[in-house]
Amino acid sequence: MTSEQLPSGRIYVAGHRGMVGAAVVRHLQRLGIADHDLITRDRSELDLIRQSDVESFFEAERPDVVVFAAAKVGGIHANHTYPAEFIYDNLMMAANAIHAAYRFGTARFLFLGSTCIYPRMAPQPMPEDCLLTGPLESTNEAYALAKISGLKLCEHYRTQYGVKFHSAMPTNLYGPGDNYHPENSHVMPAMIRRFHEAVRDNRDEVVIWGTGTPRREFLHVDDLAQGLIHLVNLDQPPNLVNVGTGTDISIRELAELIAQITGFSGEITQDTSKPDGTPVKRTNIDLIKSTGWQPRIDLETGVGRTYDDFLRASQTGTLRAV
Ligand SMILES: NC(=O)c1ccc[n+]([C@@H]2O[C@H](COP(=O)([O-])OP(=O)(O)OC[C@H]3O[C@@H](n4cnc5c(N)ncnc54)[C@H](OP(=O)(O)O)[C@@H]3O)[C@@H](O)[C@H]2O)c1
Repeated sequence: MTSEQLPSGRIYVAGHRGMVGAAVVRHLQRLGIADHDLITRDRSELDLIRQSDVESFFEAERPDVVVFAAAKVGGIHANHTYPAEFIYDNLMMAANAIHAAYRFGTARFLFLGSTCIYPRMAPQPMPEDCLLTGPLESTNEAYALAKISGLKLCEHYRTQYGVKFHSAMPTNLYGPGDNYHPENSHVMPAMIRRFHEAVRDNRDEVVIWGTGTPRREFLHVDDLAQGLIHLVNLDQPPNLVNVGTGTDISIRELAELIAQITGFSGEITQDTSKPDGTPVKRTNIDLIKSTGWQPRIDLETGVGRTYDDFLRASQTGTLRAV
C-alpha cells in the first residue's frame, strides 16, 4: 500500500479541528474516505483526559486505525507558564487513548509528538536514536516528557502485546489552520502576519528578531498528513520516525521569501538585542525516506498557498489567533 491509498477499516482522527488533525482529515477525504469510516470527536464531545469517557468511546466505536493528533500545544510562553497542565494533559491523553485502543482491538495507532523530545544539544541533523541521550530543553521539558512517555507507551505495548502502535515526530509545521496570534504564534505565521500588515499599512520597514542567521526546517502540514497515512499503511512501521524535509533555511532568507510573497518591498532590519536560539535545528529524515516517503511541497509553493489561506481566513473572519 502507498500513501495514496486509504488504510483499511474505520479511522479515528483525534484532534481533527487542530492544524494537523484537519490536514489528515483533508487528505483522507481526498483519498475518498466514506463518511462512516471516518470517526471524529471534538473536545466538547470527548475530553481525552477523562479515562472512563475514552474507554466508553473506544468500546462503542472500535476504530481500526487511530491517528492521534490531539494534544495541548503552545509556544515557549505557554509552556513556561503552564508546565503542570502541559505534562498532565498530554500524559493523560496519551495513556488513556493508547490503553483503550489496545483494550478494544485497534490494529494501528499512530502517535504524534514533536522534535522537542530530542536533547537540547542533539547532533544536527537530529537522528531518532539521539532520544534520551542528554538533557532536554528546559523551556518545554514538561511537554517533551509527556510526548516521550506517549511514544514509549506505543513502543512497549507493541513489544509486549504485538500491536502495531508507533510514533511520528514532525518538525516545525506550517500551512492552513495555523495560529496567527500576535505573540503566541510560531515564526512562520508570525512573519506572514507582520509582513502582510506592513503592506496593508504602507510601512517601509519590518524588524525581525535576532541576527537572522539561525537555520530552521519547515514542513507543509499537507505533506505531513500524506506522510502519516504512508506510515499507517506500512506493514512494519518504525517505532519512532522523524517527518521533516531534512533541509533548512535561515530566518533572514525566510523573511525575504515571505516579503516577496506578501508583496513587501521595504527594508527588512534585524533587532540583534533579541535572542537567536539554537544556531541550527533540523531533522535527519533518512529513516522515513528509506520507507519510500519524501516531502513534495517546496517552501516557496507552500508559503504561497499558506498566504492565500491566511487571506481567505482573514476575509471570512476565521483566522485562528489564540
Ligand atoms: N504545529 C506544529 O508546528 C507542530 C510541530 C510538530 C509537532 N506537532 C504535533 O502535532 C500534534 C497536533 O498539533 P497541532 O499543531 O495540530 O495542534 P492544535 O492545532 O492545537 O490541535 C490540537 C487538537 O487537540 C485537541 N485537544 C486538546 N486537548 C484535548 C482534550 N483534552 N480532549 C480532546 N481533544 C483535545 C484540540 O481540540 P480543541 O480544538 O477543542 O482545543 C485540537 O483539536 C501535537 O502532538 C504536536 O506536538 C505540531
